[in-house]
Amino acid sequence: MNGTLQIGPGHQAGQPAALRAFTGAALRRPGVVGAVAPSSSALARALSAIVPTTGPAVVVELGPGTGPVSDAIRGRLAPGSRQLAVEIDPAMVTYLRRAKPWLEVVHGDAAELGALLAPLGVERADAVVSTLPWSLFPADPQRRILREVGRVLAPAGAFTTVAYLSAVAMPSSWAFRRRLRAAFDEVLTTGPVWRNMPPGLVHVCRRPVARERSDGE
Ligand SMILES: C[S@@+](CC[C@H](N)C(=O)[O-])C[C@H]1O[C@@H](n2cnc3c(N)ncnc32)[C@H](O)[C@@H]1O
Repeated sequence: MNGTLQIGPGHQAGQPAALRAFTGAALRRPGVVGAVAPSSSALARALSAIVPTTGPAVVVELGPGTGPVSDAIRGRLAPGSRQLAVEIDPAMVTYLRRAKPWLEVVHGDAAELGALLAPLGVERADAVVSTLPWSLFPADPQRRILREVGRVLAPAGAFTTVAYLSAVAMPSSWAFRRRLRAAFDEVLTTGPVWRNMPPGLVHVCRRPVARERSDGE
């Protein structure tokens, strides 16, 4: 036994402290964490493909958890960039601040994104990357977070988010996709990324619409 836990290909489970922190939060607050395991490196790479590799950029992550996606974002960023991550769970925040001192961790609700970033001098982000558990949020908080993302996104910026294959056929997942299309002019869906538990699709969204279109509800 070498102290390495394996729960799936490319998962962060090779880092026992990260897995302990994730599992602890998932058991304590299943209705907030909304996943059974941290994202794999394959999913993290797919989500962070929108992060600019040239020039200093500002990137905001929503729901970093124990930070597998943060690592992938960091791997792309040019010197002089800023990398921020908004996390609602205090135990995850404590873990991240200790394990990833290079990350600007903001404790709070993604629904308050603009207000959380303003005191840090951040008004615009070149990329926003989310692994938020959308299926756990009612319609209004979903719309509110998408609106906040649209407000902070730079005109040429992009937003990515994951949709787990295990849930894509559910009515709530269809409703979320309608809300995405109401909030952004372009929504491209890529994947699936099979090397993740569960496998996931990645929605890549650009050009937030100034006046939200109706999402049919
Ligand atoms: C599915 S987990 C993803 C964790 C990690 N990014 C990963 O890929 O393994 C969702 C994360 O979003 C956080 N979260 C849930 N609701 C949130 C909210 N309203 N604002 C910010 N973070 C939130 C949870 O605490 C959890 O860390």
